[in-house]
Amino acid sequence: MDKRPIGVMDSGLGGLSVVRVMQKRMPNESIIFVGDEGHFPYGTKTQAQVQGLALKIGHFLMQHDIKMMIIACNTATAAALSALQEELPVPVIGVIQPGAKTAVAQPKHDRIGVIATEGTTKTGAYVKTIKSLNPDVTVVAKATQPLVSVVEHDEVGTTKAQQLVDEQLAQYREEPVDVLVLGCTHFPFLANEIKHSLGDQVTLVDPALETVREAHEWLTEHSQLNDASQPTMKLYSTGNVNDLITGADKWLTGSHYHCDHLSLDD
Ligand code: DGL
Repeated sequence: MDKRPIGVMDSGLGGLSVVRVMQKRMPNESIIFVGDEGHFPYGTKTQAQVQGLALKIGHFLMQHDIKMMIIACNTATAAALSALQEELPVPVIGVIQPGAKTAVAQPKHDRIGVIATEGTTKTGAYVKTIKSLNPDVTVVAKATQPLVSVVEHDEVGTTKAQQLVDEQLAQYREEPVDVLVLGCTHFPFLANEIKHSLGDQVTLVDPALETVREAHEWLTEHSQLNDASQPTMKLYSTGNVNDLITGADKWLTGSHYHCDHLSLDD
């Protein structure tokens, strides 16, 4: 048994879509989350910039004695997974491999769509990973960066959100896919709008489910699960803490979390 927290990071509120799955699947684990709103968005930054920010957050989380880090951000996974795995003395798990694995595990997966940030799409990380798992599938990747702000700015459920989703996903109505990977952790919060736009025929993949399953499996195998009946949940924002509180109130279960501001700039 290991009572140390699991560290989680994202550029903003998207990471909460992973935290909410952790709350359900590993309810006894303490969590320390950093939403880097002060540097949001990551999707339009260079790989080197995102890697630098992710490493800083990784080191901050290590100071809080984490037992594992989950990069709850596809853009940071593409840019910094290897660097974090090399630098941190704890296991570091990203969301891209689990997302790709889930996509090819769907019963019908000949054509797989991937929506992600500009940064993730440019790296080709999803296309490469999916093709390495099954070279025969067709992958239709599309950068849908404008959808990130809709979630970050609390516009989910609005007409504006639906219009933007319809616009950004138009290509998939013309070139239908069997599976659509939500390759940005902000996007699962737009699942209703996406279903409305593409219909029920398309299977949506939220990489968080497999990511958390793998984290749970690793902790189980290494006897490092926590059994706390009241685990702690600390949420930090490098930007506006009130936005983080609004997001946490909306997307997380319960209200036993503590939100604070964090400055990572020297
Ligand atoms: N939520 C992030 C991701 O999964 C990044 C969004 C952004 O900051 O552009 O890629």
